[in-house]
Amino acid sequence: MVKNSENLEKEILKNIVSAKSLEELQNVRVAELGKKGRITFLMKKLSSLSSDEKKNHGAKLNDLRNKIVDSISRREKEIRDKIILDSINKEKLDISLSTRPGPNLKEGKIHPISRTIDEVISIFSTFGFSVETGPEIEDDYNNFTALNIPEDHPARQDHDTFYLSRSDNQERKLLRTHTSPVQIRTMKNKKPPIRIIAPGRTFRCDDDATHSPMFHQVEGLAIEKNINMGHLKGLIEEFCRIFFDEEVLPIRFRPSYFPFTEPSAEVDIGCDKKDQKLSVGKGKDWLEVMGCGMVHPQVLINCKINPEEWQGFAFGLGVERFAMLKYGISDLRNFYEGDVRWLNHYGFYPCDKPSFTWSKVKEE
Ligand code: DAH
Repeated sequence: MVKNSENLEKEILKNIVSAKSLEELQNVRVAELGKKGRITFLMKKLSSLSSDEKKNHGAKLNDLRNKIVDSISRREKEIRDKIILDSINKEKLDISLSTRPGPNLKEGKIHPISRTIDEVISIFSTFGFSVETGPEIEDDYNNFTALNIPEDHPARQDHDTFYLSRSDNQERKLLRTHTSPVQIRTMKNKKPPIRIIAPGRTFRCDDDATHSPMFHQVEGLAIEKNINMGHLKGLIEEFCRIFFDEEVLPIRFRPSYFPFTEPSAEVDIGCDKKDQKLSVGKGKDWLEVMGCGMVHPQVLINCKINPEEWQGFAFGLGVERFAMLKYGISDLRNFYEGDVRWLNHYGFYPCDKPSFTWSKVKEE
């Protein structure tokens, strides 16, 4: 039946191998294996043969059919691989495509308050101070009593405290009016010597051009043997000099009063307030930036520290004031308005260099 079967096989396999495209290969497939294909036709004819002939021709035909199917699928893979290779070779990498602006992502900036706190922390850390934190909701004892501000003390009135409503017979809680209670918490929990700073939010019922009901302070506390007001003064001056990156900085300590320090002082920095702009280090004006003093012996006693053995100094600085002076921000209220245009102007990128010179930090 299949005369010259070898020739037929050769011819078909040659057609398959020489097919240049998937389309040409498909034409070969249809011509041989399709409904009206040559092999299909021969297969159909098998039924008219005697069983011996059927066996003989059938086996050969099957063999041939399998060879054709294998060969077609091999060729198909070759053609497909070539298509991919050709397209890779043809395609050029357009580098300009990858630099095309993507969706317009708005990048955030670091708020000057956060930036200022970070700077204060990094400077004091070089003086051996570590960071402590305390809760914003405090109790009366830590915020006032332990700091030597008893119930009937007039200083309590200065603090314009936000009180929380009392639940049942619980002690009345309040929003801390300063970061000084972190001093108390630290002294109760740690044995001296102590050197800590405590940055955080503080709250007072006060709202005008120069006061905000929420503001930020950084508290500082050092408890050691034989430390005195001279150490405190030296430390504060050195800190301010580094923070403002000014070799010569007008700075004055004014005698003052705080119930938790004795003696007490307030620190002013010389500045110029002309044209709605604050510039530090020049001019005739002064801006009060912190309170400080030697820790009152009663405060040490309240925290079970023997004042005969240990002395300490403390300070509390207003973060907003430091930020205003350093970055020339004249209106306190700008800090809290959340105006993105303002933040874009006054904010910082995370990788911005610190705005002070580390070489000015003296080795201890
Ligand atoms: N707690 C004071 C305030 O909020 C600031 C202060 C003054 C803190 C003197 C101190 C200090 O640690 O020694 O006004």
